[in-house]
Amino acid sequence: MADELDDLARVVSAEADAIERSSEAALRPRNLDEFVGQRVVREQLSLVLRAATGRGGTSDHVLLSGPPGLGKTTLAMIIAQEMGSTLRVTSGPAIAHAGDLAAILSSLDEGDVLFIDEIHRLARPAEEMLYLAMEDFRVDVVVGKGPGATSIPLTLPPFTAVGATTRAGLLPAPLRDRFGFTGHLDFYEPDELKAILVRSAGMLDLSISHDAAAEIASRSRGTPRIANRLLRRVRDWAQVHGDGRGTLAAAQAALEVYEVDEKGLDRLDRAVLGALCTRFGGGPVGLTTLAVAVGEEPETVETVAEPFLVREGLMSRSPRGRVATALAWEHLGIAPPDRPTEASGGSRLFD
Ligand SMILES: Nc1ncnc2c1ncn2[C@@H]1O[C@H](COP(=O)(O)OP(=O)(O)OP(=O)(O)O)[C@@H](O)[C@H]1O
Ligand SMILES: [Mg+2]
Repeated sequence: MADELDDLARVVSAEADAIERSSEAALRPRNLDEFVGQRVVREQLSLVLRAATGRGGTSDHVLLSGPPGLGKTTLAMIIAQEMGSTLRVTSGPAIAHAGDLAAILSSLDEGDVLFIDEIHRLARPAEEMLYLAMEDFRVDVVVGKGPGATSIPLTLPPFTAVGATTRAGLLPAPLRDRFGFTGHLDFYEPDELKAILVRSAGMLDLSISHDAAAEIASRSRGTPRIANRLLRRVRDWAQVHGDGRGTLAAAQAALEVYEVDEKGLDRLDRAVLGALCTRFGGGPVGLTTLAVAVGEEPETVETVAEPFLVREGLMSRSPRGRVATALAWEHLGIAPPDRPTEASGGSRLFD
């Protein structure tokens, strides 16, 4: 019975994911002009692409890094679109063997854009094959097994690799160095999110007031994906409880229902911060210990919650672990424990 319920929950959540993904796809900007914010990356990328088109060749390989939901996949699609190329999509975890990558590479046509999502999760043999393919447009295909195996060199047509990663630090230097351009995406400013929301509302045929858009923007953790998701929840609320318009009152009521607080912290952020303060006295505490305390994978805490908490000045990273800042205690509305200052020699207490 419990198994059946688990299966059902998985089906429902897979369907919900599929709906979210298709709503996301509908709101994706199609070209660099529609892409809001990230001024520096956009300018640099635009230069790389225009120069390549001007030469009539393929663009240099591009690496896009940054926290989830900031536009890496969107930019990869835009690169293909701006170059007038075909986009081929794969991801690090989807390539189990080097042979899988060889098959993808050998089917590329000249000028194709090969998007490798989560490139930090590529297995080592595939990674080494990619070095050669990116640098020399060559791949060695191994035919047969054991002592009789032979390796046949295959020349590839020029293509552009676009890698995306939430964890650039995990990429080995030789792979990182093979990308001619690296764009690091950072969290968006509230004004930029507001512009994204106004554009999305237009596409969703939802009339939205400026103050409602500003309210949603300020609670979207600097992330367009979250802004668009909250906008859809506000639309739901307005449709069910309101007059169908995205007013400030509708935005505030919907955000309350979905437990998004005034700083934009969601359930995971608050769980991490809460555990750090109440269970570990504000830290320092190691990432793994903290992740176990909130029942999440360390990678999720590190890539999803932590960058935002650090940026908001609620958490800091020290060599000994994660530490809650004074602002964290204030935000949670609890008093920090009295602790001796480092100057009084009290730091030994925490060793
Ligand atoms: N600059 C932007 N302007 C407008 N919309 C954006 C922008 N960046 C992202 N979005 C919206 O946010 C959604 C998420 O973006 P995207 O899928 O590109 O993020 P990602 O960085 O690839 O995330 P992940 O690391 O989880 O794969 C997109 O569907 C798109 O609608
Ligand atoms: Mg993506």
